[in-house]
Amino acid sequence: MKFFDPLPRLKPAEECSCGHQHAPRVGDASQAMPVVEVIQGEVAFNGTPILRGVNLRIPRGEIVALIGPNGSGKTTLLRSILGLQRLDAGEVRLFGSSDLPSVMSRVGYVPQKLSLDRSFPLSVREFLALRLKKTRSWFWQTPRTIEDAIRPTLVEMGVEPLLDKPIARLSGGQLQRVLIAFSLLQEPDLLLLDEPTAGVDSPGEQSFYEMIGRVHQLHQLTVVLVSHDLSMVYRHASWVYALNGVICCEGTPEQVMNADSLKQAYGIHVAPYHHHHHAH
Ligand SMILES: Nc1ncnc2c1ncn2[C@@H]1O[C@H](COP(=O)(O)OP(=O)(O)OP(=O)(O)O)[C@@H](O)[C@H]1O
Ligand SMILES: [Mg+2]
Repeated sequence: MKFFDPLPRLKPAEECSCGHQHAPRVGDASQAMPVVEVIQGEVAFNGTPILRGVNLRIPRGEIVALIGPNGSGKTTLLRSILGLQRLDAGEVRLFGSSDLPSVMSRVGYVPQKLSLDRSFPLSVREFLALRLKKTRSWFWQTPRTIEDAIRPTLVEMGVEPLLDKPIARLSGGQLQRVLIAFSLLQEPDLLLLDEPTAGVDSPGEQSFYEMIGRVHQLHQLTVVLVSHDLSMVYRHASWVYALNGVICCEGTPEQVMNADSLKQAYGIHVAPYHHHHHAH
């Protein structure tokens, strides 16, 4: 394993001697055009560098976890990928394009937090309808058909009983479930999830990851997931980036979660650091 270098990638799970099942790989990912590419990304706020020379290269079909301590720039990096945060230097490409607005319809996003004014007027149903192309027919023409089509997502996320509630009156966990359902409704090719299940209870968390697994397999969905839940990362991610202003380590979950790498990601001092691909 190296740093700042595209990648000796994961071997297929059946060749992995570590004894754990990881998310399945799609094709020969190392050769494919990456879905997400960040090249020497730099962001500073008020003169303080937050992202420094960040490089990501995420092939289609990966479930990639982004870990790192509070304030390490994870949300800033996701927002840069979405074009919501301008890079001071470097470049982001999605699906090979640096024209980010033109590909945003293929991207789903669950933000870390969303504060809504309590007078925000939409119901959950109306909010979810914003994500659907055929919103008008959902409401006024063939109400059952479209609602039926999306019902499995709503049921699975426990959102169905909330449909008529004002979205601004939901609890934190309920709102998070609605945002997750929202992100899945248009079957995106790329999902960016910033601590998506923080505040969601464990049945909700489990059904969320099961659903991600199903969509991932069906559509070769690519997922970038920020999480502090390392056991979840270990179970579900095929590749992990550890961020602390710089990408201080990347690799398979078991590579990154060895003690040295984690110290590197979560420690105070970040220095250039190399460790070697263990005997796979
Ligand atoms: N718009 C902004 N203006 C000024 N500083 C900002 C802005 N956004 C983020 N920061 C600062 O940049 C640093 C990184 O923030 P960021 O939210 O990316 O961290 P994070 O890794 O997502 O943290 P957490 O795990 O707490 O969510 C923090 O010090 C934060 O205060
Ligand atoms: Mg964050």
